[in-house]
Amino acid sequence: TYNAGITGMGISMPENILTNFDLEKMVETSDEWIRTRTGIRERRIAGPETASSDLATDAAVKALKMAGVSAEEIDLIIVATVTPDMMFPSTAAIVQNNIGAVNAAAFDLEAACTGFIYALTVAKQFIKSGSYRNVLVIGCDLLSKITDFTDRNTCILFGDGAGAAVISRTDEEGIIEEYIKSDGAGGKYLYLPSSGSRIPPSIESIQKKLNYIYMDGPEVFKFAVKAMPEAIIGLLDKSGHKIDDIDYLVPHQANIRIIESAARRLGISMDKVGITIDKYGNMSSASIPVTLFEEYERKKIKKGDKIVLVGFGAGLTYGAALINW
Ligand code: ACO
Repeated sequence: TYNAGITGMGISMPENILTNFDLEKMVETSDEWIRTRTGIRERRIAGPETASSDLATDAAVKALKMAGVSAEEIDLIIVATVTPDMMFPSTAAIVQNNIGAVNAAAFDLEAACTGFIYALTVAKQFIKSGSYRNVLVIGCDLLSKITDFTDRNTCILFGDGAGAAVISRTDEEGIIEEYIKSDGAGGKYLYLPSSGSRIPPSIESIQKKLNYIYMDGPEVFKFAVKAMPEAIIGLLDKSGHKIDDIDYLVPHQANIRIIESAARRLGISMDKVGITIDKYGNMSSASIPVTLFEEYERKKIKKGDKIVLVGFGAGLTYGAALINW
């Protein structure tokens, strides 16, 4: 078997910023409520002409450059997204064409906010087995495209962005262990009603606003505060590590209170926890790679650090990964 590690990363963020003060003019809410209940101050919103593959492509090109890997050397592209450009072709195939990764297989993976961890897990297996040398993993979501901006329960939470990572065969072990789980019984708490074969998009479904995210916030909150610690403990048990071995934690960015609760339960101090929710909100599968990359750029993460990525999302899904940076 072979070792796999992250050899390059890149992110792509829309320029347009939507602040809590902007939202005050759109729905009955306040900057104070949003900040204290979620930790969010602002988020990025893609323009009407921008689709997921546009940000995914930009992030991918940057990641390839950092890794020093050419597009032709990519064997597989996995895009984790719940907001693909369209149901088919896959966003991964669109990215393949955009970057000229002519030798790659390409598919999308749907595990909502846990998507990046799932995709990293899949990528690692192909490299570990020796099948592939370089896999491009992209977490990309434009949640603004499926958000009802008249619904204050959801529209304050979400934002748009993309983060890409090149996973390559490496000398040293980079991705040490992963732990992915799902709890389909909780699917009813977070879903996009009219988006596929159950309720195909129609004039009626749009009039009923079924083309927007449905979320039972308190139920998702309850699940998340349990799932994140459980995933981390499961991961550490599986890999033979202890909480004290973790140098840095990069959690999914859904609500600062969920993150603080998980850190408290595990006894991890908040200065070892990556946070971007204040400026980007919840970007689903993009939150973890974007936060990982920004903490690396801020030099919060250094070579040799043991980093835990952890997330949860629709499915319900959850999971964690241990990385040697
Ligand atoms: N501004 C002002 N008041 C609001 C707003 C708002 N934007 N939204 C809700 N309220 C009100 C509610 O109507 C409610 O009023 P009431 O008590 O008179 O009924 C009150 O504030 C409290 O509402 P709660 O829902 O109990 O507030 P809570 O503290 O639970 O926070 C939140 C809500 C932020 C949504 C929280 O439940 C949460 O973060 N849940 C998890 C969400 C999550 O993680 N989603 C993951 C999505 S992942 C993916 O796959 C896309």
